[in-house]
Amino acid sequence: MKEKAISGKIDTPSCIIENMPEPCGIIIFGASGDLTGRKIVPALFRLYSHGIFQKGSFILGCARTDMDTDGFRDRMKSHLRNHPDFEEEKWNNFANILYYHPLHYQDKISFMSLKDILLELDKRHGIKGNHLFYLAVPPQIYMPIIEQLGINGLSRENREKDGWTRIVVEKPFGHDLQSALELDRILHRHFKEHQIFRIDHYLAKETVQSILMFRFANAIFEPIWNRRYIEAIKISALESIGVEHRSGYYEQAGVIRDMFQNHMMQLLALTAMEPPAEFKADRVRDEKVKVYRALRPFPVHDLNSYIVLGQYQRGEVGGKEVIGYREEPGVNPDSLTPTFASMKVFVDNWRWQGVPFYLSSGKRLSKKLTQIEILFKHVPHSMFRHVIDESIEQNRLTFCIYPEEKISLRFQIKRPAAKVCLRSVAMDFHYLEDYTGPIFDAYEKVLLDCILGDQMLFWRQDGVEQCWSFLTPILEACETCSDRAQRLHFYPAGSWGPEQSISWLAID
Ligand code: BG6
Repeated sequence: MKEKAISGKIDTPSCIIENMPEPCGIIIFGASGDLTGRKIVPALFRLYSHGIFQKGSFILGCARTDMDTDGFRDRMKSHLRNHPDFEEEKWNNFANILYYHPLHYQDKISFMSLKDILLELDKRHGIKGNHLFYLAVPPQIYMPIIEQLGINGLSRENREKDGWTRIVVEKPFGHDLQSALELDRILHRHFKEHQIFRIDHYLAKETVQSILMFRFANAIFEPIWNRRYIEAIKISALESIGVEHRSGYYEQAGVIRDMFQNHMMQLLALTAMEPPAEFKADRVRDEKVKVYRALRPFPVHDLNSYIVLGQYQRGEVGGKEVIGYREEPGVNPDSLTPTFASMKVFVDNWRWQGVPFYLSSGKRLSKKLTQIEILFKHVPHSMFRHVIDESIEQNRLTFCIYPEEKISLRFQIKRPAAKVCLRSVAMDFHYLEDYTGPIFDAYEKVLLDCILGDQMLFWRQDGVEQCWSFLTPILEACETCSDRAQRLHFYPAGSWGPEQSISWLAID
């Protein structure tokens, strides 16, 4: 399918970036950690390489690790060496805006000196005090940092100079409803809601964003986007990787907190929400929250009909033997943490009454596959029933998010031959076909939006709370029940998870 034939506008600069961001200082807490080196700094480097991260801006890494600015620059260089945009000259320019300040997260003196350093860097770079604080630290350290920023006056916006101050919070936003409320209380003690950016990198994926355009910029799909025409919706984010080096966090979180409380809920909302009157951050987020409010509470006495939990065991992924979850370094050998979950969810409103949404996610599965499948109802009557013996496959619309980025519509046609036979075919639109402009990855996009102050792709607290209210009873029921061990289905790495839920997955 030719995108250019439909719209000639895709390569125009106005479609690449709306406004150029102002110069700012980005302060990364957790600067010696994995996220900073793997995602945040490479994303900033790319924005810088494209002239989007403006001249005058600077990046200040902060962490407990005792190192100086040169040490930090060397560390970041080793992360960027294989970056597609890496060139020695570009790196030298970028390195000049990188700084490092060792600090203790609970220590007032460390934050007082941070304040002095920021004043000096603002002056040196000639910026007016636009600051973005990024919490790339384990969640248990969020609160002390937020408190210290507040106590030291670093959360205040510099109104005299018209400067802004923002804070970026990575998921998980709490461990359950109670802790999410507590985190929010501390955040709001020092920051206003418009200053808080709760990241969900799934929302920044191009194909995920495209769901709203597909639904609400086309007239032909919305009339059939409801219980009259749709039989079921399957949303799957399946992964082939294991827990990797994150066992400390994952043992506590498990798949429901790690993937469902955030990414899966966002995919669900985009698929199920009503069209807002305007494409504005708060209008869109209002509609999402309405979906979460309409979620039917899980019948905790009959969980087995609605949720399947699993944990991977030793097996083979991509031709390589891999160990089981309980054998991973740092994992309790008797761990009952689920690495897979599949749930049947209902949205109790007029549009979706009776339509099951199957949400599934897990680690160490056969391959990485992220997609949303809309399964339409079968034809009400088959006039071919006397001529062909096969049943007619239902129409299926698939938003493929990974590995391919495409939208695919499956329908029936006649197989070319004398005999009357049906053939199920797909009409595919590949998202990047014919597009030649730059593509920003999820972290590049979210960072850009934080700097621009656009909250469209970020969670709002009411959404976070609604999702926790929905998931906390399930977590409690699953984690405290006496038959917890029996509920956990073991699956070999490299499979599609427990047998019980295979038909709930969006796999072809
Ligand atoms: C993260 C989870 O938020 O998303 C990880 O913490 C998961 O466990 C990752 O692997 C998946 O993201 P993506 O973009 O690779 O699908």
